Amino acid sequence: MTLCEYKPGLEGIPAAQSSISHVDGQKGILEYRGIRIEELAEKSTFLETAYLLIWGQLPSKEELEAFEHEIRYHRRLKYRIRDMMKCFPESGHPMDALQASAAALGLFYSRRDLHNPVYIRDAVVRLMATIPTMVAAFELMRRGNDPVKPRDNLDYAANFLYMLNEKEPDPLAARIFDICLILHVEHTMNASTFSARVTASTLTDPYAVVASAVGTLGGPLHGGANEEVIQMLEEIGTVDNVRPYLEDRLQRKAKIMGFGHRVYKVKDPRANILQSLAEQLFEKFGYDKYYEIAQEVERVMAEKVGSKGIYPNVDFYSGLVYRKMGIPTDLFTPVFAIARVAGWLAHWKEQLAENRIFRPTQIYNGLHEVTYTPIEKR
Ligand code: ACO
Repeated sequence: MTLCEYKPGLEGIPAAQSSISHVDGQKGILEYRGIRIEELAEKSTFLETAYLLIWGQLPSKEELEAFEHEIRYHRRLKYRIRDMMKCFPESGHPMDALQASAAALGLFYSRRDLHNPVYIRDAVVRLMATIPTMVAAFELMRRGNDPVKPRDNLDYAANFLYMLNEKEPDPLAARIFDICLILHVEHTMNASTFSARVTASTLTDPYAVVASAVGTLGGPLHGGANEEVIQMLEEIGTVDNVRPYLEDRLQRKAKIMGFGHRVYKVKDPRANILQSLAEQLFEKFGYDKYYEIAQEVERVMAEKVGSKGIYPNVDFYSGLVYRKMGIPTDLFTPVFAIARVAGWLAHWKEQLAENRIFRPTQIYNGLHEVTYTPIEKR
Protein backbone atom coordinates (compact mmCIF):
# COMPACT_ATOMS: atom_id res chain seq x y z
CA MET A 1 0.00 0.00 0.00
CA THR A 2 1.32 3.46 -0.84
CA LEU A 3 1.04 6.01 1.91
CA CYS A 4 -0.90 9.11 0.88
CA GLU A 5 0.16 12.60 1.74
CA TYR A 6 -1.61 13.88 4.88
CA LYS A 7 -4.41 16.30 3.95
CA PRO A 8 -5.97 18.24 6.83
CA GLY A 9 -9.74 17.87 6.70
CA LEU A 10 -9.19 14.96 4.24
CA GLU A 11 -9.49 17.55 1.49
CA GLY A 12 -9.77 15.84 -1.88
CA ILE A 13 -9.50 12.31 -0.43
CA PRO A 14 -12.37 9.99 -1.50
CA ALA A 15 -14.01 8.40 1.56
CA ALA A 16 -16.54 6.25 -0.31
CA GLN A 17 -17.91 5.38 -3.73
CA SER A 18 -21.39 6.79 -4.02
CA SER A 19 -24.13 7.12 -6.63
CA ILE A 20 -26.39 9.32 -4.49
CA SER A 21 -25.39 12.84 -5.48
CA HIS A 22 -22.80 14.74 -7.48
CA VAL A 23 -21.36 18.24 -7.27
CA ASP A 24 -19.40 20.05 -9.94
CA GLY A 25 -17.92 22.86 -7.89
CA GLN A 26 -16.43 24.71 -10.85
CA LYS A 27 -19.65 24.82 -12.86
CA GLY A 28 -22.02 25.13 -9.88
CA ILE A 29 -23.95 21.93 -10.64
CA LEU A 30 -25.65 19.70 -8.08
CA GLU A 31 -27.41 16.47 -9.09
CA TYR A 32 -29.34 13.92 -7.02
CA ARG A 33 -29.13 10.48 -8.67
CA GLY A 34 -28.23 12.34 -11.87
CA ILE A 35 -31.16 14.82 -11.82
CA ARG A 36 -30.29 18.51 -11.58
CA ILE A 37 -31.35 20.25 -8.38
CA GLU A 38 -33.10 23.02 -10.34
CA GLU A 39 -35.39 20.47 -12.00
CA LEU A 40 -36.23 18.75 -8.72
CA ALA A 41 -36.91 22.09 -7.02
CA GLU A 42 -39.34 22.97 -9.78
CA LYS A 43 -41.11 19.65 -10.33
CA SER A 44 -40.64 17.34 -7.35
CA THR A 45 -41.68 17.25 -3.71
CA PHE A 46 -39.48 16.60 -0.71
CA LEU A 47 -40.83 13.10 -0.07
CA GLU A 48 -40.49 12.11 -3.71
CA THR A 49 -36.89 13.40 -3.76
CA ALA A 50 -36.16 11.59 -0.49
CA TYR A 51 -37.48 8.37 -2.03
CA LEU A 52 -35.29 8.93 -5.09
CA LEU A 53 -32.20 9.33 -2.91
CA ILE A 54 -32.89 6.45 -0.55
CA TRP A 55 -34.18 3.85 -3.02
CA GLY A 56 -32.21 5.00 -6.06
CA GLN A 57 -35.03 5.84 -8.47
CA LEU A 58 -38.11 8.00 -8.74
CA PRO A 59 -41.11 6.20 -7.24
CA SER A 60 -44.15 5.15 -9.24
CA LYS A 61 -47.43 6.86 -8.28
CA GLU A 62 -48.37 3.89 -6.05
CA GLU A 63 -44.93 3.73 -4.43
CA LEU A 64 -44.99 7.43 -3.64
CA GLU A 65 -48.50 7.27 -2.21
CA ALA A 66 -47.54 4.32 -0.01
CA PHE A 67 -44.43 6.14 1.26
CA GLU A 68 -46.35 9.36 1.95
CA HIS A 69 -49.06 7.36 3.72
CA GLU A 70 -46.58 5.55 5.99
CA ILE A 71 -44.81 8.79 6.92
CA ARG A 72 -48.13 10.55 7.59
CA TYR A 73 -49.24 7.85 10.05
CA HIS A 74 -45.96 7.60 11.98
CA ARG A 75 -45.61 11.27 12.87
CA ARG A 76 -46.77 11.08 16.49
CA LEU A 77 -44.13 11.01 19.21
CA LYS A 78 -44.07 8.26 21.79
CA TYR A 79 -45.31 9.79 25.03
CA ARG A 80 -42.11 8.74 26.79
CA ILE A 81 -40.00 10.64 24.26
CA ARG A 82 -42.26 13.67 24.64
CA ASP A 83 -42.00 13.45 28.44
CA MET A 84 -38.24 13.07 28.24
CA MET A 85 -38.09 16.18 26.03
CA LYS A 86 -40.17 18.11 28.59
CA CYS A 87 -37.26 17.72 31.00
CA PHE A 88 -34.76 19.34 28.62
CA PRO A 89 -33.74 22.84 29.73
CA GLU A 90 -35.50 25.45 27.60
CA SER A 91 -32.19 27.31 27.28
CA GLY A 92 -30.65 24.26 25.57
CA HIS A 93 -29.95 24.47 21.85
CA PRO A 94 -32.65 22.76 19.74
CA MET A 95 -29.94 20.81 17.88
CA ASP A 96 -28.85 19.24 21.17
CA ALA A 97 -32.49 18.45 21.96
CA LEU A 98 -32.87 16.86 18.53
CA GLN A 99 -29.69 14.81 18.85
CA ALA A 100 -30.77 13.44 22.24
CA SER A 101 -34.32 12.71 21.02
CA ALA A 102 -33.18 10.92 17.84
CA ALA A 103 -30.81 8.77 19.91
CA ALA A 104 -33.61 8.06 22.41
CA LEU A 105 -35.85 6.79 19.62
CA GLY A 106 -33.27 4.05 19.10
CA LEU A 107 -33.92 2.80 22.64
CA PHE A 108 -37.28 1.58 21.41
CA TYR A 109 -35.98 -0.13 18.26
CA SER A 110 -32.58 -1.48 19.14
CA ARG A 111 -33.00 -4.65 17.04
CA ARG A 112 -30.20 -4.53 14.49
CA ASP A 113 -31.57 -6.54 11.62
CA LEU A 114 -29.66 -4.41 9.18
CA HIS A 115 -30.07 -6.62 6.14
CA ASN A 116 -33.81 -6.93 6.43
CA PRO A 117 -35.52 -4.52 3.97
CA VAL A 118 -38.52 -4.28 6.32
CA TYR A 119 -36.29 -3.07 9.19
CA ILE A 120 -34.63 -0.56 6.85
CA ARG A 121 -37.98 0.74 5.59
CA ASP A 122 -39.37 1.03 9.14
CA ALA A 123 -36.34 2.94 10.36
CA VAL A 124 -36.47 5.33 7.38
CA VAL A 125 -40.17 5.99 7.92
CA ARG A 126 -39.89 6.37 11.68
CA LEU A 127 -36.96 8.78 11.56
CA MET A 128 -38.29 10.88 8.71
CA ALA A 129 -41.78 10.99 10.23
CA THR A 130 -40.82 11.87 13.80
CA ILE A 131 -37.86 14.21 13.44
CA PRO A 132 -40.05 17.18 12.36
CA THR A 133 -42.40 16.41 15.27
CA MET A 134 -39.44 16.44 17.68
CA VAL A 135 -38.21 19.80 16.40
CA ALA A 136 -41.67 21.40 16.66
CA ALA A 137 -42.40 19.77 20.05
CA PHE A 138 -39.20 21.10 21.62
CA GLU A 139 -39.97 24.58 20.30
CA LEU A 140 -43.49 24.57 21.77
CA MET A 141 -42.43 23.09 25.08
CA ARG A 142 -39.65 25.61 25.59
CA ARG A 143 -42.27 28.32 25.06
CA GLY A 144 -44.19 26.66 27.90
CA ASN A 145 -46.90 25.15 25.67
CA ASP A 146 -48.01 21.61 24.98
CA PRO A 147 -46.77 20.22 21.67
CA VAL A 148 -49.24 20.40 18.80
CA LYS A 149 -50.32 17.00 17.46
CA PRO A 150 -49.47 16.35 13.80
CA ARG A 151 -52.35 16.65 11.33
CA ASP A 152 -52.87 13.67 9.02
CA ASN A 153 -54.53 15.78 6.35
CA LEU A 154 -51.49 18.02 5.83
CA ASP A 155 -48.48 17.13 3.74
CA TYR A 156 -44.96 16.87 5.14
CA ALA A 157 -43.96 20.54 4.85
CA ALA A 158 -47.36 22.02 5.74
CA ASN A 159 -47.69 19.75 8.76
CA PHE A 160 -44.32 20.87 10.16
CA LEU A 161 -45.21 24.55 9.79
CA TYR A 162 -48.59 23.83 11.35
CA MET A 163 -47.04 22.07 14.37
CA LEU A 164 -44.58 24.94 14.79
CA ASN A 165 -46.89 27.93 14.39
CA GLU A 166 -50.13 26.33 15.64
CA LYS A 167 -51.92 27.38 12.47
CA GLU A 168 -52.22 26.07 8.94
CA PRO A 169 -49.60 27.70 6.73
CA ASP A 170 -50.23 29.71 3.61
CA PRO A 171 -49.94 27.30 0.60
CA LEU A 172 -47.12 29.35 -0.99
CA ALA A 173 -45.12 29.30 2.25
CA ALA A 174 -45.67 25.53 2.56
CA ARG A 175 -44.54 24.88 -1.03
CA ILE A 176 -41.48 27.09 -0.56
CA PHE A 177 -40.63 25.26 2.65
CA ASP A 178 -40.94 21.94 0.81
CA ILE A 179 -38.50 23.23 -1.85
CA CYS A 180 -36.09 24.29 0.93
CA LEU A 181 -36.17 20.70 2.19
CA ILE A 182 -35.35 19.45 -1.33
CA LEU A 183 -32.39 21.83 -1.49
CA HIS A 184 -30.99 20.67 1.83
CA VAL A 185 -31.61 16.95 1.64
CA GLU A 186 -28.24 15.78 0.31
CA HIS A 187 -24.81 17.07 -0.57
CA THR A 188 -22.18 14.39 -1.20
CA MET A 189 -19.46 13.70 1.38
CA ASN A 190 -19.91 16.67 3.71
CA ALA A 191 -18.93 16.49 7.40
CA SER A 192 -22.26 15.22 8.77
CA THR A 193 -22.68 12.66 5.99
CA PHE A 194 -19.15 11.43 6.60
CA SER A 195 -19.99 11.19 10.27
CA ALA A 196 -23.16 9.21 9.40
CA ARG A 197 -21.17 6.80 7.23
CA VAL A 198 -18.45 6.28 9.83
CA THR A 199 -21.10 5.49 12.44
CA ALA A 200 -23.00 3.26 9.97
CA SER A 201 -19.83 1.33 9.18
CA THR A 202 -19.74 -0.08 12.73
CA LEU A 203 -23.15 -1.70 12.03
CA THR A 204 -24.82 0.21 14.85
CA ASP A 205 -28.49 1.15 14.52
CA PRO A 206 -29.75 3.93 12.22
CA TYR A 207 -30.91 6.05 15.18
CA ALA A 208 -27.29 6.27 16.36
CA VAL A 209 -26.26 7.06 12.77
CA VAL A 210 -28.69 9.99 12.60
CA ALA A 211 -27.85 11.18 16.14
CA SER A 212 -24.15 11.36 15.33
CA ALA A 213 -24.83 13.19 12.06
CA VAL A 214 -27.10 15.71 13.86
CA GLY A 215 -24.25 16.38 16.31
CA THR A 216 -21.90 17.06 13.42
CA LEU A 217 -24.32 19.25 11.48
CA GLY A 218 -24.71 21.60 14.45
CA GLY A 219 -21.30 23.29 14.22
CA PRO A 220 -20.92 26.83 12.85
CA LEU A 221 -18.65 25.71 10.02
CA HIS A 222 -21.37 23.37 8.75
CA GLY A 223 -25.17 23.63 9.19
CA GLY A 224 -24.89 26.10 12.04
CA ALA A 225 -23.69 28.84 9.67
CA ASN A 226 -27.25 29.84 8.68
CA GLU A 227 -27.97 31.08 12.22
CA GLU A 228 -24.80 33.12 12.23
CA VAL A 229 -25.68 34.73 8.89
CA ILE A 230 -28.78 36.30 10.42
CA GLN A 231 -26.82 37.42 13.48
CA MET A 232 -24.25 39.00 11.15
CA LEU A 233 -26.91 40.81 9.07
CA GLU A 234 -28.46 42.16 12.27
CA GLU A 235 -25.05 43.26 13.53
CA ILE A 236 -24.33 45.06 10.24
CA GLY A 237 -27.70 46.80 10.60
CA THR A 238 -27.57 49.13 7.57
CA VAL A 239 -26.50 48.92 3.93
CA ASP A 240 -23.92 51.68 4.53
CA ASN A 241 -22.25 49.64 7.22
CA VAL A 242 -21.69 46.60 4.96
CA ARG A 243 -18.38 47.68 3.44
CA PRO A 244 -16.62 48.85 6.64
CA TYR A 245 -17.91 45.76 8.51
CA LEU A 246 -16.61 43.33 5.87
CA GLU A 247 -13.32 45.15 5.38
CA ASP A 248 -12.66 45.05 9.10
CA ARG A 249 -13.48 41.33 9.37
CA LEU A 250 -11.60 40.30 6.25
CA GLN A 251 -8.56 42.24 7.38
CA ARG A 252 -8.66 40.30 10.66
CA LYS A 253 -8.95 37.06 8.62
CA ALA A 254 -12.34 36.34 10.17
CA LYS A 255 -14.70 34.11 8.20
CA ILE A 256 -17.86 35.63 6.77
CA MET A 257 -20.66 33.19 7.50
CA GLY A 258 -22.66 31.87 4.56
CA PHE A 259 -19.68 32.27 2.21
CA GLY A 260 -17.13 29.82 0.92
CA HIS A 261 -17.29 26.11 0.33
CA ARG A 262 -14.80 23.28 0.18
CA VAL A 263 -16.19 22.19 -3.21
CA TYR A 264 -17.97 25.15 -4.87
CA LYS A 265 -15.75 27.80 -6.30
CA VAL A 266 -18.73 29.66 -7.78
CA LYS A 267 -22.07 30.61 -6.22
CA ASP A 268 -23.73 27.52 -4.77
CA PRO A 269 -26.70 26.62 -7.08
CA ARG A 270 -28.86 26.18 -3.96
CA ALA A 271 -28.13 29.78 -2.97
CA ASN A 272 -29.47 30.96 -6.35
CA ILE A 273 -32.73 29.04 -5.85
CA LEU A 274 -33.07 30.16 -2.21
CA GLN A 275 -32.54 33.77 -3.22
CA SER A 276 -35.40 33.54 -5.72
CA LEU A 277 -37.62 31.83 -3.10
CA ALA A 278 -36.83 34.64 -0.65
CA GLU A 279 -37.90 37.16 -3.30
CA GLN A 280 -41.21 35.31 -3.85
CA LEU A 281 -41.88 35.38 -0.11
CA PHE A 282 -41.07 39.08 0.20
CA GLU A 283 -43.38 39.83 -2.73
CA LYS A 284 -46.31 38.10 -1.04
CA PHE A 285 -45.65 38.74 2.65
CA GLY A 286 -43.71 42.00 2.69
CA TYR A 287 -40.19 43.24 2.39
CA ASP A 288 -37.31 42.39 4.78
CA LYS A 289 -34.69 45.12 5.19
CA TYR A 290 -32.04 42.50 5.81
CA TYR A 291 -32.40 41.28 2.23
CA GLU A 292 -31.00 44.56 0.94
CA ILE A 293 -28.09 44.25 3.37
CA ALA A 294 -27.53 40.64 2.24
CA GLN A 295 -27.42 41.68 -1.41
CA GLU A 296 -24.83 44.35 -0.60
CA VAL A 297 -22.80 41.78 1.37
CA GLU A 298 -22.83 39.54 -1.71
CA ARG A 299 -21.68 42.43 -3.95
CA VAL A 300 -18.83 43.54 -1.66
CA MET A 301 -17.69 39.95 -1.03
CA ALA A 302 -17.55 39.29 -4.81
CA GLU A 303 -15.34 42.34 -5.19
CA LYS A 304 -13.07 41.48 -2.25
CA VAL A 305 -12.73 37.68 -2.31
CA GLY A 306 -14.57 36.50 -5.44
CA SER A 307 -11.20 35.88 -7.12
CA LYS A 308 -10.48 33.25 -4.41
CA GLY A 309 -13.70 31.42 -5.33
CA ILE A 310 -15.58 32.53 -2.22
CA TYR A 311 -19.27 33.04 -2.99
CA PRO A 312 -22.57 32.57 -1.13
CA ASN A 313 -23.25 29.00 -0.04
CA VAL A 314 -26.58 27.34 0.81
CA ASP A 315 -26.66 28.98 4.23
CA PHE A 316 -26.53 32.57 3.05
CA TYR A 317 -30.13 33.03 1.88
CA SER A 318 -31.85 30.15 3.71
CA GLY A 319 -32.01 32.13 6.96
CA LEU A 320 -33.87 35.00 5.30
CA VAL A 321 -36.42 32.54 3.89
CA TYR A 322 -36.96 30.83 7.26
CA ARG A 323 -37.15 34.14 9.10
CA LYS A 324 -39.94 35.29 6.81
CA MET A 325 -41.83 32.09 7.65
CA GLY A 326 -41.62 32.92 11.34
CA ILE A 327 -39.09 30.18 12.13
CA PRO A 328 -36.89 31.19 15.10
CA THR A 329 -33.20 31.62 14.28
CA ASP A 330 -31.97 28.74 16.42
CA LEU A 331 -34.34 26.37 14.59
CA PHE A 332 -32.65 26.98 11.22
CA THR A 333 -30.16 24.16 11.73
CA PRO A 334 -32.76 21.68 13.07
CA VAL A 335 -34.82 22.49 9.95
CA PHE A 336 -31.72 21.69 7.90
CA ALA A 337 -31.54 18.38 9.80
CA ILE A 338 -35.21 17.59 9.02
CA ALA A 339 -34.25 17.63 5.35
CA ARG A 340 -30.81 16.06 5.64
CA VAL A 341 -32.00 13.03 7.57
CA ALA A 342 -33.14 11.50 4.26
CA GLY A 343 -29.69 12.09 2.74
CA TRP A 344 -28.01 10.50 5.77
CA LEU A 345 -30.33 7.50 5.51
CA ALA A 346 -29.51 7.12 1.81
CA HIS A 347 -25.82 7.01 2.78
CA TRP A 348 -26.55 4.61 5.65
CA LYS A 349 -28.19 2.22 3.20
CA GLU A 350 -25.42 2.61 0.65
CA GLN A 351 -22.74 2.07 3.32
CA LEU A 352 -24.42 -1.15 4.49
CA ALA A 353 -24.59 -2.48 0.94
CA GLU A 354 -20.79 -2.62 0.72
CA ASN A 355 -19.57 -2.12 4.22
CA ARG A 356 -16.05 -1.95 5.54
CA ILE A 357 -15.53 -0.33 8.93
CA PHE A 358 -13.80 3.05 8.70
CA ARG A 359 -10.39 2.82 10.26
CA PRO A 360 -8.05 5.44 8.76
CA THR A 361 -4.52 5.88 9.90
CA GLN A 362 -2.66 8.83 11.41
CA ILE A 363 0.76 10.36 11.29
CA TYR A 364 2.14 10.16 14.79
CA ASN A 365 4.12 13.26 15.69
CA GLY A 366 4.47 12.72 19.44
CA LEU A 367 7.31 11.47 21.62
CA HIS A 368 8.70 7.97 22.18
CA GLU A 369 10.44 6.25 25.09
CA VAL A 370 9.46 8.92 27.61
CA THR A 371 10.12 7.98 31.23
CA TYR A 372 7.33 8.37 33.74
CA THR A 373 7.81 11.31 36.15
CA PRO A 374 6.42 10.70 39.64
CA ILE A 375 3.76 13.26 40.58
CA GLU A 376 5.84 14.92 43.33
CA LYS A 377 8.58 15.69 40.80
CA ARG A 378 6.39 17.38 38.13
N1 ACO B 1 -15.01 34.35 4.62
C1 ACO B 1 -13.80 34.86 4.37
N2 ACO B 1 -12.77 34.16 3.89
C2 ACO B 1 -13.00 32.87 3.63
C3 ACO B 1 -14.24 32.27 3.86
C4 ACO B 1 -15.28 33.06 4.36
N3 ACO B 1 -16.47 32.55 4.62
N4 ACO B 1 -14.18 30.96 3.52
C5 ACO B 1 -12.93 30.75 3.11
N5 ACO B 1 -12.21 31.90 3.17
C6 ACO B 1 -10.80 32.09 2.81
C7 ACO B 1 -9.87 31.63 3.94
O1 ACO B 1 -9.60 32.65 4.83
C8 ACO B 1 -8.67 31.15 3.18
O2 ACO B 1 -7.95 32.30 2.75
P1 ACO B 1 -6.34 32.27 2.64
O3 ACO B 1 -6.04 31.24 1.61
O4 ACO B 1 -6.00 33.66 2.25
O5 ACO B 1 -5.85 31.88 4.01
C9 ACO B 1 -9.26 30.51 1.91
O6 ACO B 1 -10.52 31.19 1.71
C10 ACO B 1 -9.53 29.02 2.06
O7 ACO B 1 -10.32 28.83 3.24
P2 ACO B 1 -10.45 27.49 4.04
O8 ACO B 1 -11.06 27.76 5.37
O9 ACO B 1 -9.14 26.76 4.01
O10 ACO B 1 -11.48 26.71 3.14
P3 ACO B 1 -12.19 25.36 3.52
O11 ACO B 1 -12.45 24.65 2.24
O12 ACO B 1 -11.43 24.63 4.58
O13 ACO B 1 -13.52 25.89 4.22
C11 ACO B 1 -15.67 26.44 4.80
C12 ACO B 1 -14.79 25.77 3.74
C13 ACO B 1 -15.47 25.74 6.15
C14 ACO B 1 -17.13 26.28 4.39
C15 ACO B 1 -15.30 27.93 4.89
O14 ACO B 1 -15.50 28.55 3.64
C16 ACO B 1 -16.05 28.65 5.99
O15 ACO B 1 -15.64 28.59 7.15
N6 ACO B 1 -17.17 29.37 5.62
C17 ACO B 1 -17.97 30.05 6.59
C18 ACO B 1 -18.90 29.07 7.31
C19 ACO B 1 -20.03 28.61 6.43
O16 ACO B 1 -20.69 29.38 5.75
N7 ACO B 1 -20.26 27.29 6.46
C20 ACO B 1 -21.35 26.64 5.73
C21 ACO B 1 -20.79 25.83 4.60
S1 ACO B 1 -22.08 25.07 3.66
C22 ACO B 1 -22.57 23.81 4.67
O17 ACO B 1 -21.84 23.25 5.44
C23 ACO B 1 -23.95 23.43 4.59
